[in-house]
Amino acid sequence: MSRFLKVLLTCAVLCMAFAATAQSSKYPGVGRNATPKEVAQWDIDVRPDFKGLPVGSGSVAKGQEVWEAKCAHCHGVFGESNEVFSPIIGGTSAEDIRVGRVANLSRPDYPGRTTIMKVPTVSTLWDYINRAMPWTAPKSLSADEVYAVTAFLLNLANVLPDDFVMSDKNIQDVQARMPNRNGMTTQHGLWMGKEFAGPAKADTANVICMKHCKPEPQLASLLPAFARNAHGNLKEQNRVVGQQLGADTTQPEKPSTGPKAVVTDASVVGTASVKPEKTESQIALALLNKYSCTACHAVDKKVVGPGFNEVAQRQSGKTDYLLGKIKSGSVGVYGNIPMPPQTLPEADAQKIVEWISKGANK
Ligand code: HEC
Ligand code: HEC
Repeated sequence: MSRFLKVLLTCAVLCMAFAATAQSSKYPGVGRNATPKEVAQWDIDVRPDFKGLPVGSGSVAKGQEVWEAKCAHCHGVFGESNEVFSPIIGGTSAEDIRVGRVANLSRPDYPGRTTIMKVPTVSTLWDYINRAMPWTAPKSLSADEVYAVTAFLLNLANVLPDDFVMSDKNIQDVQARMPNRNGMTTQHGLWMGKEFAGPAKADTANVICMKHCKPEPQLASLLPAFARNAHGNLKEQNRVVGQQLGADTTQPEKPSTGPKAVVTDASVVGTASVKPEKTESQIALALLNKYSCTACHAVDKKVVGPGFNEVAQRQSGKTDYLLGKIKSGSVGVYGNIPMPPQTLPEADAQKIVEWISKGANK
């Protein structure tokens, strides 16, 4: 090794050591700086000026493949479904694309507000799909797939032609055709835009109390007893997605036992706080909720996948078979919508399968 190289290496090592002490002396003993690679994993936002947009491209045709394989079973073949979420496509016209403002938004009698009616910026659509969809496997799409499926959605809305290939190079032109591109305003307190002469500041202010603080007020929404079941059982009227379980309003409200009362079933399963009176089916139902199986399955009816009662009938006693299916996914047994492989701890899958094989009772 040449002398010069040695000096260079020694210097490099010393410099790194120096950088390391410089980092830890800011908050001694507390963690370390995130590496650029770690930051990159989080720093994925795409802004309206397309800062943050990765290079890539995707065609409408490719987008249709992505959509049909990974999105259509929740959002409908044409983005029209209102079952799992409100429709994504619909309610816009060629005139809206021309003027950049969706006319139906100003009609109180128009029955719905689809995503494409509202969203002013194509970057938001791209960013949202990239970070959050498909709902059961967020961040699993490649950049090209996100370009493709975004282009396909815009094709469904007649914003882009069938043979369009959307990319980081032409996304600005796509923005210029967004039906509600002129629908965004900053003439309100939340974002205080350039339209205001005064300082650009939000209309709220708060100072965090750090010591001798007053106790936090407890906020809660309660149903008075007389109104409890006024509209039928709320539990049965909930969408089968997400964490909103809804109260069983046919039963009187259970007396509150302090903060524990707001812990949802799903979050206590598997911890020491499981109450002994929990039945096998309550545990199974909480697990189904915890692992979002309920996005596609209900107990007693078909949703995207078969009702667990139907599975119980068809596969009674076949616990190993069912375990295998949950782990590796399934298609063709109940129709041609596939179930992607599910990742959950073996022990929890086991509990679910035992519950199914005993008849999947509520
Ligand atoms: C398992 C069901 C499911 C699948 C599969 C799914 N979505 Fe979604 N999608 C949802 C739900 C639920 C929401 C609403 C989420 C929320 O508001 O928190 C949503 C929201 C969206 C929105 C935002 C709409 C808005 O106005 O906020 C877009 C766009 C979208 N999905 C696109 C896609 C695309 C593209 C795919 C496929 C790559 C996909 N979704 C797959 C369930 C699904
Ligand atoms: C994205 C939607 C989706 C999600 C999420 C989902 N499933 Fe499924 N599931 C399906 C579909 C669709 C089928 C039917 C597949 C077929 O026809 O072979 C199915 C089938 C099944 C079957 C029956 C298999 C058979 O051969 O009889 C079981 C058991 C099952 N799912 C359990 C689960 C469990 C447990 C979870 C959560 C960990 C889950 N599923 C999450 C869509 C889903």
